[in-house]
Order: sequence, then structure tokens, then C-alpha cells
Amino acid sequence: NIIILDCGSQFTQLIARRIRELKVHSEIIPWDVCIDDIRQRKPRGIIISGGPQSVMDEDSPTVPMELFEFGVPILGVCYGMQLIAKLFGGQIESGSSREYGRTAISLKDLNSLLFKSAPGTFEVWMSHGDHIAKLPDGALLLAETDGGVPAAFAIEEKGIWGLQFHPEVAHTQNGITILSNFLFNICGCTGDWDLGSWIDMMVKDVQQKTENARVICGLSGGVDSTVAAVLTSKAIGDRLECIFVNNGLLRHREAERVLEKYKQLDLNVHYVDASNRFLDALKGVIDPEQKRKIIGETFIRVFEAEAAKIHNAEWLLQGTLYPDVIESGHKGKGASVIKSHHNVGGLPEDMKLKVLEPLRDLFKDEVRTIGALLGVPEEIVNRQPFPGPGLAVRCLGEISRDRLDTLRAADEIFREEFSKSETYFTVWQSFCVLLPIKTVGVMGDSRTYAEVVALRAVESSDGMTADWVRVPYDVLDRTARRICNSIKGINRVVLDVTSKPPSTIEWE
Ligand code: XMP
Repeated sequence: NIIILDCGSQFTQLIARRIRELKVHSEIIPWDVCIDDIRQRKPRGIIISGGPQSVMDEDSPTVPMELFEFGVPILGVCYGMQLIAKLFGGQIESGSSREYGRTAISLKDLNSLLFKSAPGTFEVWMSHGDHIAKLPDGALLLAETDGGVPAAFAIEEKGIWGLQFHPEVAHTQNGITILSNFLFNICGCTGDWDLGSWIDMMVKDVQQKTENARVICGLSGGVDSTVAAVLTSKAIGDRLECIFVNNGLLRHREAERVLEKYKQLDLNVHYVDASNRFLDALKGVIDPEQKRKIIGETFIRVFEAEAAKIHNAEWLLQGTLYPDVIESGHKGKGASVIKSHHNVGGLPEDMKLKVLEPLRDLFKDEVRTIGALLGVPEEIVNRQPFPGPGLAVRCLGEISRDRLDTLRAADEIFREEFSKSETYFTVWQSFCVLLPIKTVGVMGDSRTYAEVVALRAVESSDGMTADWVRVPYDVLDRTARRICNSIKGINRVVLDVTSKPPSTIEWE
């Protein structure tokens, strides 16, 4: 077990992830946790993370000197390294030599354990304003930048190591080698941990936390909420009560398909068909933000009413992932609202439930792996993301049952045709959008005046940026013909060829 003391860096979770990839268990805990707590966890090594503050700021994160008497190796990264240097009598300076981004470093000690198998010079990723002006007494300089700033040092007899750069980011060459050296050559880790062990650990954690209490969960049919539910039900069985709300904005046969899967997974699901309520509330609404707001509020009300039927519930299970945690952490810092996103995570605060988030340290691909290990069907594990407000944000203009049916039919045709092509399995999302305009066409010998369907397919790794996918021409051709021939009210199909930015993935 490696403990990462988090001083607030945006990369802390990435360190944990890299360590997991090297098959060593790691835990992130806040820098100010009580020292006995750390001792009880019996770590093989400790990493002090980077952080946004300067070690010279008042009230900046620090660690007690006792930590260095545990007899386990300690690695400071960026802020963590400067903190160690300061605690051991080194000098930190701010200002003149800030370094952000790619920087070359040269090794000063070619025999150091930390840099074993690394070349004499290579590029690393720096992100710091302060730097070490004088190393602590007894410290050995292991590497420095072209500008002569210490990039790494060690006080070997005390088991102390420091890196000014971030070994965890992909832009640092030999970063994985350096982390492996710390884990295996310095801490003596064995590397026999995997995500299967994570499941065992989390099952125990959920059992301990919830004791005998009931847990409520909102299921959406997506991978995050499903994996969180399956994991929790493995831990507490029937004490987990899931609520699945049909908002009338789902895709073709989606509710039936998803409920069938939940049955196979033995989840205890309360199904609520609230389609009428949602569609009534959306009548006459055209503005995208207004649509989102109405759907969010209606969802909360429906969920609350259903949850009220479940007695003695103390916990609310959510499928929050690490990127959601980062995003919400950065909220409120002047970022502009592009779209008011919401999903089953946007639940009422006044429900007075404690929040259970077993997946909050994980990235999406890890959740997919865990889902597969837990026996979650492939169809859910590899499901494309689907927005909380569903087809409402793909049915531009006023939403009606007929228009939703038209959109569903077109969307299903695109899915059927596209999924016959290999390219389909590389996309992040692919779907149809129903446009609120009519154009002239000719069918048989008659003039038509009907609506337009747009096809959207994008590739992305996180939904933050995206590029449009070059869908094979024959797929586009078959899709367009089938849509126009079989769906009344559509006489034209167009393709969206914009990336994000400047567009967004969804059209509203
Ligand atoms: P945009 O359209 O903002 O979408 O480029 C980025 C990703 O987020 C999904 N999305 C949502 N997901 N609730 C969600 O859970 C929402 O309100 C929502 N709006 C957009 C979108 O499908 C894409 O994957």
C-alpha cells in the first residue's frame, strides 16, 4: 500500500492511477489527516503530492516531522519536494525561474535508485513557480534542469526522495520508470494488486460504511450508475433500492432493454414511468436551457416521491467518477455555463441522505473494466454516453410525442446501419438530431415539405473536446435512404462535420 498525501494538485489522482497501473494499491488522503491514521494504514511508501500553493505561504499544507520517522520511503513531488526541502533546512525561492511545461533535465548521479534505467538527459513536465535555491544539508542532487534548478534530490539514509517535475503525466519521458523504481526498488512493493482487489476492498468499505442502513440509488442505464449499483448490491444485497425513471426521452425500446439487463443483474429496481409528466412539463418549450431546467426539476420531484416510499434509507448511492469530482471542484471559479448539465447525480440536497460514491477515485475506462469483472453485460459496459435530458436536447424546437417517435426511428436506423461497420466501435457517441425546419423534396411525383434529420458521430476521450468521425460513405448512404423511405415527415438527411470546439457534441 502506498499513501498519497494530497496537497491539492490537479495531478494527484493521476499518480494514484499510474500506481494502480503498476499493480500496486494506493490511497489518496488529505495532507492534514492525523498521523495515527497514516500509521494504521501501514504504508510501504508515502508520496507527498504537488499543490497550487507556495510552501512559503502562511497556512500552506505541511506534514509533521514524525512522518519521516516511520521508516518508510517518502517521495515528494513538486510542492511535496519543496515542502520536504524546507522542513529539512533547504531554501526555497519564488519568482525569476518559473517553469511550466516541457523542460529538459540532466542526471547528476547516474547510480541513483530512483533513476535506474533512465537516460542521462530527457524531457519532463514541470509546473512550478517556486524552486529550491539551496538543498537541505546532507541532500544529494540527483538531477537538474538546463537552468540549473534542482529537479531531483535524495537524503538516502532517511529514505527521502524529491522530484520537482511530475512523473505521472504522459509528457514526462521515463515517468513510469521513475515511479516503478520508487515502488519496486525503493519501497519493495510486489506488484500483485489489481482492480479485482479494488472490488474486494470497496465491497468491504461499503459494508462498513452503511452498516445495516438502506441505500437508494438512481439508475440511468449508463455504465457509471450501473457499475456503482452492481458493486453496492454485491456488498449489501437487498438493502440497495434502485429507482429507474423513464422520462419519456429515452431511445427506441431503451427502458425495456435496460430493465431486462437489471433483472439479469438481480438489482432491486423500482420502475417509474413518468413520461407524461415530463412531456406535459415540456409542452411549448423551445429554449434549450429552459428544457434542461424543466427536466432537471421534474426528475428531482419524481425521484423524491419514489424515494419517500422507501423507508429507513440513510444513503444515496451515486456513480460519481474522478473527472466529475475535478469538474465540480473547479466550479464557481468564474467558468461560464455552456450548458447546465445534469444527470442522475443532480439530486435534491434537502433529502438529508449521506452520499456514497464508491467510484469517485476512478476514471471511466477503469469503471468499464470493473463493470466487466462484475459481470455487467457488454451492452452496458461499452455503452455510449447519453445525456441526462435525453432526446429533448436532440429534438430541436418544440417537443411532441410524434417528433420524439420520428427521432427515435431515425436514430435506430443510424445505429443499426453504423454498427455493421468497424468504425462504430471507435466512436464516443453517434446519434440523430431532428431539426426544427422544413425543406422541400420530391417523392414519387409529388412535392414534399418535411423536416430534416442531422447525423452526428464524434470521437473523444472525455467529451471535453471532440472531432467528427469520418463515417463510411456507404453507411451514410444506406442510413439516409432508409430514413427518408421509411419515416414519414422526413425528406432530407445531413451530416454534422464540426468538431468541439467550436461546436458542442449535443446540438442543444
Ligand atoms: P456537449 O454537448 O456539452 O456534451 O459537448 C459533452 C458530453 O456530455 C454529454 N452531456 C450530458 N451528460 N447530462 C449528462 O449526463 C447532461 O445534461 C448532458 N449534456 C451533455 C454529451 O452527451 C457529451 O457526451
